[in-house]
Amino acid sequence: MDFLSRRSIRKYKDIPVEKEKLDEILKTAIVAPTGHNAKGCEFIVFEKPEDVRKLIGVKSMGAVFLETAPAGIAVVCNTDKAKTWIEDSSVAAYTIILKAHDLGLSTCWLQLKERFGKDNRPSEEIFREMTNLPENYNVLCFIAIGYGDEERPSYTDKDVDLSKVHYNKF
Ligand SMILES: Cc1cc2nc3c(=O)[nH]c(=O)nc-3n(C[C@H](O)[C@H](O)[C@H](O)COP(=O)(O)O)c2cc1C
Repeated sequence: MDFLSRRSIRKYKDIPVEKEKLDEILKTAIVAPTGHNAKGCEFIVFEKPEDVRKLIGVKSMGAVFLETAPAGIAVVCNTDKAKTWIEDSSVAAYTIILKAHDLGLSTCWLQLKERFGKDNRPSEEIFREMTNLPENYNVLCFIAIGYGDEERPSYTDKDVDLSKVHYNKF
């Protein structure tokens, strides 16, 4: 897989994402590594553009791009099981992003944790109500998935700032 060509894409073609591809993506996310092997992450799949659009109201800023997204996956985690729920959910979310890229799909992360919607209501609360998410689960983010309809340049070696790498000592 070419990791450097992965970019966040916020405009999608009006083409549905094949169920087989969503299943492939979910398979990789389900076996993503978790702290203490807690495996507390679960996934809420949105397969219809009209359902994805309902999420626009969950957050007052940065969610308008969902307008054209045909599908997506919300990453939620059982906090009774997973003490490292944020880390576990982040790993699962990035796994979704990378597997989608591997399958020729584009994605963009929509942050829901510690974000706010209408009347300053926490996005997590609005999302919980919308999806019947139990109290012992938290939501981290929603990953929009679709066939990209905008060109964003691949990263190149020029973007790879090796001065950020330290060996043994900072
Ligand atoms: C934790 C996290 C939260 C993000 N939240 C949003 C978001 O709510 N809305 C959005 O449009 N992009 C969001 N992004 C995407 C970033 O804006 C994007 O990754 C960054 O601008 C770099 O661009 P690239 O992904 O094309 O390399 C988020 C990314 C991460 C990792």
